[in-house]
Amino acid sequence: PLKLAIIGGGSSYTPELVEGVLKRLERLPVKEIHFVDIEAGQEKLDIIEALARRMVKKVGADITIKASLDRRAAIKDADFVMTQFRVGGLQARASDERIPLKYNVIGQETTGPGGFAKALRTIPVILDICKDIEELAPNAWMLNFTNPAGLVTEAVLKYTKVKTIGLCNVPVSMKMMIAEMMDCSPNDLSLEFAGLNHLIWAHRAWLEGKDITAEVLEKVGDGANFSMTNIFEEPWDPTFLEALGAIPCPYHRYFYQTDAMLAEEKETALGGGTRAEQVMETEQELFMLYKDVNLDRKPEQLEKRGGAYYSDASLDLVDAIYNDLKTINVVNVRNNGTIATLPDDAVIECSAVVGSWGARPLSVGQLSPAVRGLIHQVKAYEQLTVEAAVHGDYEKGLMALVNNPLVPDIKRAKAILDDILRVNLDYLPQF
Ligand code: NAD
Ligand code: G6P
Ligand code: MN
Repeated sequence: PLKLAIIGGGSSYTPELVEGVLKRLERLPVKEIHFVDIEAGQEKLDIIEALARRMVKKVGADITIKASLDRRAAIKDADFVMTQFRVGGLQARASDERIPLKYNVIGQETTGPGGFAKALRTIPVILDICKDIEELAPNAWMLNFTNPAGLVTEAVLKYTKVKTIGLCNVPVSMKMMIAEMMDCSPNDLSLEFAGLNHLIWAHRAWLEGKDITAEVLEKVGDGANFSMTNIFEEPWDPTFLEALGAIPCPYHRYFYQTDAMLAEEKETALGGGTRAEQVMETEQELFMLYKDVNLDRKPEQLEKRGGAYYSDASLDLVDAIYNDLKTINVVNVRNNGTIATLPDDAVIECSAVVGSWGARPLSVGQLSPAVRGLIHQVKAYEQLTVEAAVHGDYEKGLMALVNNPLVPDIKRAKAILDDILRVNLDYLPQF
């Protein structure tokens, strides 16, 4: 029997996760799910607990649902620990999005200085969670969803003994959107994914043995739907896509179309509010629905959030590990030479064979110069951010921002860093 511990159980995404478990009961003998949150999340946690119980009851599953603020009890003897928490809540996210905008820099929760600030808040907490796992469930797998997922996973792999894999819904979503474009089943597609979290390319796309990369790029250039609900769908330049020769992810727009994305962000920030401010409203709506004692499934309104297919990504991974499936999943893991020119201990996001031993990435070798520069620069930023976050090192933090391609000037980097440290003071014990 399996025990799952969910850190950040009060998340509005949790019903999606519960649904993912209930869909797979024949393959996954889950007997206990323990949701953990903090005091500030108690109200949301209570609502989620009651909804999860109704969902379990509806299908007649034999699963004990627990919800508490007792992280150690949740982690003890867990087989899988899933992390989906947000230190500082959506308020902190809103400031991550607004601070860079003041300086004419992209304000996004995972990319650029916003992701940097989120990493500084998150890494001390996750290292603490890992101490509990090392002590109370040393054989558990930690599946990390907490953003910036690649960077946070890198900190865990460098500084703890916990077996961990980072996850994102972007690769699954890209697969679904490409299947839609090609009018085929997602299962018939093979996509060669490699890059970093939120900076991943599908380098080759195959459909029944045929290389369809150029065809997909043409459709994307023609305006086929190819974004997540949280990212503005700025049209791609067809000539650029053809020249790039690899399928970019929706987040690449921040790097390749910075001017347009920045202009759009500034406009929405003035109008309906930044993404965090919009999500606050969606969240309220969702929890109103979750409270309804007649609701016993995941409501459709959850699709307004950017995390679609997130439960499939995580529970397919649990399935692959628990049942030793040796399937190909897209994961965040230690590079170990997969992308030849990146450090071995860098975390990359790529296609990997997953079985009971964990994830073995499929070798990529050399990347073409068309993508090599960007990935190296962003990885340097990520390495420096991990060091800044773990040691509370101001100079490393400054060099992290200076190396981020979205931050063009040291004067602005310093101003942004100082703002971030000041506004987040309560969440940065390491500084
Ligand atoms: P949220 O604001 O609802 O936060 C989830 C819960 O975390 C809240 O109930 C909050 O009280 C709790 N929390 C805060 N600090 C905590 C702590 N120290 N310990 C335990 N719980 C704590 O956030 P959300 O929008 O549901 O997103 C949750 C996380 O998942 C975020 O980090 C987000 O970036 C990430 N996410 C990642 C992906 C992905 O593709 N990797 C997809 C969706 C969401
Ligand atoms: C995408 C990303 C996630 C991110 C989410 C934001 O799905 O992969 O990493 O957390 O979008 O969605 P939101 O609804 O919170 O803006
Ligand atoms: Mn993601």
